[in-house]
Amino acid sequence: MANSVLPGWPVALAADSIDAGCLRLKFSRAGDHPVTRQGFVEMAPTEVLDSLDQDTSVTSPNNKVIRIENLHKTYDLGEVKVHALRGVSIEVHRGEFVAVMGASGSGKSTFMNIVGCLDRPTQGTYWLESVDVSTLNKDALADIRNRRIGFVFQGFNLLARTTALDNVELPLLYAGTDSKERHERSMKALHDVGLAGREYHMPNQLSGGQQQRVAIARALVNEPSIILADEPTGNLDSRTSVEVMDIFQKLNDRYNITIVLVTHEHDIAKYAKRNVVFKDGRIRDDSLVEGRISAEEELKRLPPVEED
Ligand SMILES: Nc1ncnc2c1ncn2[C@@H]1O[C@H](COP(=O)(O)OP(=O)(O)O)[C@@H](O)[C@H]1O
Ligand SMILES: [Mg+2]
Repeated sequence: MANSVLPGWPVALAADSIDAGCLRLKFSRAGDHPVTRQGFVEMAPTEVLDSLDQDTSVTSPNNKVIRIENLHKTYDLGEVKVHALRGVSIEVHRGEFVAVMGASGSGKSTFMNIVGCLDRPTQGTYWLESVDVSTLNKDALADIRNRRIGFVFQGFNLLARTTALDNVELPLLYAGTDSKERHERSMKALHDVGLAGREYHMPNQLSGGQQQRVAIARALVNEPSIILADEPTGNLDSRTSVEVMDIFQKLNDRYNITIVLVTHEHDIAKYAKRNVVFKDGRIRDDSLVEGRISAEEELKRLPPVEED
């Protein structure tokens, strides 16, 4: 290592963890405790180490999908004001897989609604792929939401009496994509979530896990910048939850899709690469997952279940 890695911190002890797009290095200076710096990169580790000489900020600005500074959200209920977010700052880079955690009422959904362009902050700035979306009006927000964000909800939110394929085609229909391309892209998205052969099933002919996979395909089909999922395994049993996390991990690994997912379950959060914990409208903890679990490996250990 060259000795100009970080000003004042000349020695990198070790590359602590290098994980699909994520780099963490420990630095120490004689007589001091080691410190950890982490960054998110798209380069091979050797190139990263070389580039640290020139770029001490570690991260590349174009690589940021989300950049949020000092976000506040106050719900004004007349006599009472609820401070749901009290100064949240966070960056999420392309290819990250973030689990958002925290007790009920800590501000997770409020945060996700703003990140998903469903709501606007009371104060603070939010750049989505370098567009400042915090000041956009409702129509502009809706437009950016349709093009750049894929949503997955706890309750699947599929249209009943509508085939899996038609459910997945919906966002493309809104976007004005022609029918041939709609069909091809939706077939591929269903294939990507392991539902080839179920395209013409209605939601009530599919298991909960399969319905959630249709919802993931629908979130994917527009090639969004980010997939946001609020408690996507909340209505599923434990094996099915792992199956859904397996899909998320594969989309993240294979296509470098950025995922931000809310969960209150620690077991589920361990499939992500990074855990962000909210408390009372603030981020209390933000750390990389140590000993991340592979859902695919976990599924091999779990007893199989019969699917129809
Ligand atoms: N639309 C709303 N109007 C008023 N208060 C709200 C609204 N949405 C959420 N809150 C309040 O904001 C706080 C954070 O809620 P929320 O973001 O839903 O937390 P979480 O998703 O972590 O449970 C809570 O006190 C909640 O009651
Ligand atoms: Mg919530």
